[in-house]
Amino acid sequence: MRYLVFLLLSTALYAHEDAAAHTHGSELFNQKCFACHRLDTQKYAPPLFAVKKVHMDRYGNKTAAKTKIENFLKTGEDPIMQPAVQKFGVMPKVSLSAKECALLAEFLIENDHPKPQWFQKHYKQHLQSGELDHGH
Ligand code: HEC
Repeated sequence: MRYLVFLLLSTALYAHEDAAAHTHGSELFNQKCFACHRLDTQKYAPPLFAVKKVHMDRYGNKTAAKTKIENFLKTGEDPIMQPAVQKFGVMPKVSLSAKECALLAEFLIENDHPKPQWFQKHYKQHLQSGELDHGH
């Protein structure tokens, strides 16, 4: 039941973007990813804001960040969110078509996701402990 309420809520949260080109990606995300990746908690997985930020900081531009996420979704290999991997283990592979992987990568990188209040402090701790390699 909590799950159902959550899905309904998450659909509503992104519904206002329906006019944008990313509608399909956001619907897919709601269906296949939102159960774990939420907006402001990291109970099951890093929040959307964190997934985008870590990839943008590491790869420096949207195209490279999208390509990396797309490949991760296709192969399930080479995760870069090391603190999250240590905490949860590598994300279980979700069955997706190549097109769906591209749409989801686009959804994650092209949208501005809400920043959780706790994020700044949390991220700083990971940076200071050297767990996040910025690659530059
Ligand atoms: C069963 C829970 C679960 C589901 C469902 C899930 N994820 Fe994840 N995801 C995780 C966890 C846990 C991590 C952190 C560990 C890791 O990075 O592999 C993660 C990490 C990620 C990462 C970062 C990987 C990296 O480089 O470290 C991306 C991108 C991602 N998820 C996208 C998605 C997308 C898109 C979907 C929907 C198709 C999805 N996830 C569905 C649990 C989930």
